[in-house]
Amino acid sequence: MIREAAYAKLNLSLDVQEKRTDGYHNMLMVMQTIDLCDHISLDLRLEAGIFLTCNYGYIPTDGRNLACKAANLFLKACGREGQGISIRMKKEIPVGAGMAGGSADAAAVLRGMNRLLKAGMGRRELEKLAEQVGSDVAFCVAGGTALAKGRGEMLEDLPPMPDCSIVVCKPSFSISTPELFGKLDRVKLLHHPDTDGMLEAIRENDLRGTAIRMYNVFEEVDDRRMRIVADIKGALLDGGAAGAVMTGTGSAVFGLFSDEEKAKKSAEKLSKEYSFCRIAKPIKACLFDC
Ligand code: C5P
Repeated sequence: MIREAAYAKLNLSLDVQEKRTDGYHNMLMVMQTIDLCDHISLDLRLEAGIFLTCNYGYIPTDGRNLACKAANLFLKACGREGQGISIRMKKEIPVGAGMAGGSADAAAVLRGMNRLLKAGMGRRELEKLAEQVGSDVAFCVAGGTALAKGRGEMLEDLPPMPDCSIVVCKPSFSISTPELFGKLDRVKLLHHPDTDGMLEAIRENDLRGTAIRMYNVFEEVDDRRMRIVADIKGALLDGGAAGAVMTGTGSAVFGLFSDEEKAKKSAEKLSKEYSFCRIAKPIKACLFDC
């Protein structure tokens, strides 16, 4: 049996650029892997097909799950379509949070199947397969700190972000990705993140410089739920965070702290009001052979 940890991602910054002819938008995002993870185990089965089980009953376990899609693609790519695979998924990453939980699971399946079937694929080969599964999956193959462009599949590795404690808090609602992109098309964006400035701050290992540049254009969308996002951000900043922002299309919000004690106190306070509240650390190492 093969085990893989499927680590969550956060967007330190998220900019949406032009809408493309294929209906997608070009993005410019600084992505960061954190140590909060789902647990994936893989095994061979005699019977052909992908057999997925999950600790959350409401998660689809058929072809709609990105992990199944990734497994099928991998078998096809290495000419092993008849091979049966069982996947056990234990989820810890909140669903509908903008933390790429489903994408992280799919990427972990690709890494795990590469080991299980001794297929010998390299990082770039896995990322190419990942691209076909979903927008954030390619980043999740190797993780770390990266600049992502296009739909998120054009990746440039960055030096590790400055060390810090991260408080992640998710309100009970989730926001649908297509709905949020649709709403974004109807607003004239007033601000864009200073992505170049953030890249420089990361290269200089400057936590404050990184934190103050965190920005997500989706927070400008006209949606009453963004008021709750703003409340959580305010609470994180009041608690001593150097910066706070929503990740992806939400609804999770996080803050970066240089002081671990302040992070703990802030998480404790927020957990009285919001059901998901965790302290995480950035993951520096690549998850693959880079
Ligand atoms: O990536 P995913 O297929 O989950 O995205 C769902 C929807 O969000 C897309 O069908 C598209 O409407 C929108 N989207 C977009 N631009 C992106 C990613 C998603 O417009 N870069």
